[in-house]
Amino acid sequence: MRDVWNTQALVESDKKHLWHPFTPMRDWCAEDHSPVVLVRGQGAWLEDSEGRRYLDGNSSIWTNIHGHAHPKINRAIQDQLERVAHVSFLGTTNPPAIELATRLSGYFPEGTLERVFLSDDGSTAVEAAMKMAVQFWQMAGHMNRSRFITFENAYHGDTLGAASLGGIGAFQRGVTGHQFPVTRISGPEELDALPGFHHGDVAAVVIEPLIQGAAGMKTWPKGMLRSLRKKCDEAGVFLILDEVMTGFGRTGTMFACQQEEVIPDFLCLAKGLTGGYVPLAATLTTAKVFDAFLGDVEEGKTFYYGHSYSGNPVGCAAALASLDVFRDECVLEKMAPKIERLGELLAEIKNEPGIYETRQCGLIAGIEVRQRNGAAFPWMMRVGAKICLAARRYGILTRPVLDTIVFMPPLCVTLEEMADGMRAIRTAAKEVLMEADP
Ligand SMILES: Cc1ncc(COP(=O)(O)O)c(C=O)c1O
Repeated sequence: MRDVWNTQALVESDKKHLWHPFTPMRDWCAEDHSPVVLVRGQGAWLEDSEGRRYLDGNSSIWTNIHGHAHPKINRAIQDQLERVAHVSFLGTTNPPAIELATRLSGYFPEGTLERVFLSDDGSTAVEAAMKMAVQFWQMAGHMNRSRFITFENAYHGDTLGAASLGGIGAFQRGVTGHQFPVTRISGPEELDALPGFHHGDVAAVVIEPLIQGAAGMKTWPKGMLRSLRKKCDEAGVFLILDEVMTGFGRTGTMFACQQEEVIPDFLCLAKGLTGGYVPLAATLTTAKVFDAFLGDVEEGKTFYYGHSYSGNPVGCAAALASLDVFRDECVLEKMAPKIERLGELLAEIKNEPGIYETRQCGLIAGIEVRQRNGAAFPWMMRVGAKICLAARRYGILTRPVLDTIVFMPPLCVTLEEMADGMRAIRTAAKEVLMEADP
């Protein structure tokens, strides 16, 4: 039997009591705004309270991997709930967390990323890596080595430490002055000339490998990551890879760093770790880092960082099930034709008026719209947002990054579903662009 929802009552209560992330709330609460109330999901599809279906065009904010309501992940969560939903990770441990750490380390060569620190989301995965890096240097006697080098337009999350790394102005509002020192660069070629990079105050370089997400799906040149690793090695500076978006098959390999055979000192994972079902994050690091934190309690080497839900067994069980699905359903092996088809679909849409550029990395795509003269639309016009809103009427849910429309379906998407999704974006873009730039 289907559930029956009272959409109007739900929306009224939402507008009365909720505060949504990254959302201009006056517009949200306006009388003429009708939010989509999502009630179900199946595979790459979502359904709202009125029974309308949408392709999950951005994998529910870049999280979902194998589709919604996957029987194996659902079962694993249910089985774990029957045992226990949550136990403390401070002073006790649990089997799913132990197995997950073992399996995550197993994706990397023996003796590399062999330690796993569990937390809750992408921001805390990055925050933990930053704090580990800074404490490592302090314990080695480098008290001032707390500067991070990051990239223009980077995004690494919203907790204070992670936010300090970000290069996007909007996410900095209200937190400047309470952050780690950061130097932003546009490419690794700038590193050697940076004062302090060699033997100075730099704790680590932090990067989203292969592609910057919140910057608008901007891809890095091939080989860039490897040359960055080399420069960090030469300078003795840590390399933190933020694979919160790129991890778990999104770029065509399990992890983006594998495409350039780079192993970081810290690897941050979240979003797709549980298949996109429940919050969980992991920060992987090396024995070199971990061993520096060993000592007598009086030495003060303990890593004093953690959260109430660290190591949550339900999250770990979901993550294990997601890894099982990768293996049992040969998910990565099936990606090549999907990546190729996405390339063809992007090539088609690129010829449409107003489509300025398309960018792709694996099964991640960005479609940037601009005025016909090549100039960006004034941001207040919110053209990207309008296209995504219109696209809902054609059966796809996604969100833009400014005027770049994100197309990033779950990895289980079929070739036909991808074509349907791109058709919806194309129709919506045509409609909105006709009005915005007639
Ligand atoms: C590359 C990257 N790092 C970190 C984050 C923050 O993750 P979360 O929203 O789970 O805190 C995001 C979120 O979009 C991201 O794309």
